[in-house]
Amino acid sequence: MEDYDSQFNTYLELIEGRLKEVTTNKEPSNLYEPVTYIVLDGGKRIRPLLCLLACEACGGSYYEAIDAAVAIELLHNFTLVHDDIMDNSPLRRGKPTIHTKWDIPTAILSGDVMVGIALDLLSYYSNYTTYGKFISQLTYGYIEVCEGQALDMLFNSIDEVSEEDYYLMIKKKTAAVIQTSLVIGGLCAGAIESNLNTLREFGLNLGLAFQLQDDLLDLYGTDVRLGKKKGNDILEKKKTLLVLLAKKYASNEKEVELINKLFSSDAIVDSDIPKYDALFKKYNIYEKVRAEVTRFSNQALSTLGHLPKNKGTKMLEYLVNKLNVRTF
Ligand code: IPE
Ligand code: IPE
Ligand code: MG
Ligand code: MG
Ligand code: MG
Repeated sequence: MEDYDSQFNTYLELIEGRLKEVTTNKEPSNLYEPVTYIVLDGGKRIRPLLCLLACEACGGSYYEAIDAAVAIELLHNFTLVHDDIMDNSPLRRGKPTIHTKWDIPTAILSGDVMVGIALDLLSYYSNYTTYGKFISQLTYGYIEVCEGQALDMLFNSIDEVSEEDYYLMIKKKTAAVIQTSLVIGGLCAGAIESNLNTLREFGLNLGLAFQLQDDLLDLYGTDVRLGKKKGNDILEKKKTLLVLLAKKYASNEKEVELINKLFSSDAIVDSDIPKYDALFKKYNIYEKVRAEVTRFSNQALSTLGHLPKNKGTKMLEYLVNKLNVRTF
């Protein structure tokens, strides 16, 4: 077995180096200080890794995809900074969020400029005949994540949310950027259409698994590297699959009342969290959602069978298996 971890480290060093180059020594500092604060201190770099690996899987060399990979990581960091405002999140990557350390206008603007830097980086591919596809794929990810985040917020204020609604929301807010990372990696390699379609299908399943696991970790995560406030989704009344399943199984008045509180305008406080924890435990919600994570991870793995059998594809497989059991 080859040493994939050391290969991952090589990729990670390249990504960190390029991220640093494109965000440091810039002015004004009230714009770029928060940018470097979020970008250069933590993050698993899953999306840029996927971009480099997709490039290799489609027959390219990873260094052709570095700028694209960094562009996507910046787009992702923009979503995090704005998401933290929307979710009232105090912590990100183990540190105070930008809007709490500085203020909301600073967080909005530093998020905005990261999209600009991302587009600028992508323009390095303007000599490719497929450049139009790079742009339309990045735009797709950008628009989808905004639509997904809008659905996420909408579900805070309506009293009916189905499992189908939930899956559409996470497909848009999370899977679309993961798909974009992969497809753009494929474009860097000049991939044929059938391989791009496989990457899209792979990214959809991986992205759904990724958000389901994120939703589980919000309540059950114990790894300090998660770096977020535990139970924030409950406090913010997020309509995760955990909540939708608990709603389906709630069988007495007290349980129904507890769930209905998440669909009402009543405030949820920290001391309510253990009550939801107990309700989820009673109906084995953790296990049920875990089964979905594994189901989508397995679907992602099976689509990889349609890509060329090479080191890039094998490393994608390795990464899916790692993400399936991730703790942060
Ligand atoms: C968090 O993404 C936001 C989601 C889409 C679930 P990550 O878990 O990839 O966050 P970082 O980049 O590693 O901090
Ligand atoms: C992530 O959803 C969606 C994004 C587009 C960032 P979450 O709101 O669950 O992400 P975290 O848990 O704050 O990272
Ligand atoms: Mg959110
Ligand atoms: Mg959030
Ligand atoms: Mg979350």
